[in-house]
Amino acid sequence: MKKQLIAGNWKMNGSSVANEALLKALVAGINSATCHVAVCVPAPYLAQVQGLVAGTGIDLGAQDVSQHESGAFTGEVSAAMLREFGARYCLVGHSERRQYHGETDAAVAVKAQRALAAGITPIVCVGETLAEREAGRTEEIVKRQLAAVIHTNGHCISEIVVAYEPVWAIGTGKTASPQEAQHVHAVLRSQLRAATEQADRMLILYGGSMNAANAAQLLSQDDIDGGLVGGASLKAADFLSIIAAAH
Ligand code: 13P
Repeated sequence: MKKQLIAGNWKMNGSSVANEALLKALVAGINSATCHVAVCVPAPYLAQVQGLVAGTGIDLGAQDVSQHESGAFTGEVSAAMLREFGARYCLVGHSERRQYHGETDAAVAVKAQRALAAGITPIVCVGETLAEREAGRTEEIVKRQLAAVIHTNGHCISEIVVAYEPVWAIGTGKTASPQEAQHVHAVLRSQLRAATEQADRMLILYGGSMNAANAAQLLSQDDIDGGLVGGASLKAADFLSIIAAAH
């Protein structure tokens, strides 16, 4: 059976002191995790966290990557730079990037391509807003978002991780029910099957108010292969409980 992935998305949280305390508690509590574990940290802390996770089995991730390779793009961070600091994963197209920074499907697809070219696994986020769900457009939206990434990345698509994050469930305490989430994951899986023979070994994560109490049920669904965890990844005990619920 494929191993699940539990990835923490710290978003714009942390400090040198807090990061060290959190990672030390995670390392002390992680024992024999059967799943893959990663933390996606703000770019300035990549070097610090690279040191803290070295040799622990916890992988390092970034939260965004430039769609450009290098050059006059002030404030941007390239995939090669992320790689140099040990990033194994990079979130791409998180709804907060799409919403607050105007990232289009096409830009997200190119970011995934940049990450792959640098040897980083992009965790490509897709998800509908509340208005889109209420209008019955969930499938149309997530399929459109994933289609752009498939189109741009061709046969390399089997190397990405997909994260389904319904926007209305992020940071709200509202979670998609395991059945609602499974339904969308199955839709995404069949879209991937049409693009690659490797679809069944690919990971599709669920994100959106995943916590210690609801993780086990979500993670037991057929097409849910892990979690992308925001708030609960900042508390060692909660993140460890989610890791313990994964396989
Ligand atoms: P929360 O777990 O805080 O809802 O955030 C989910 C998320 O956006 C992870 O990328």
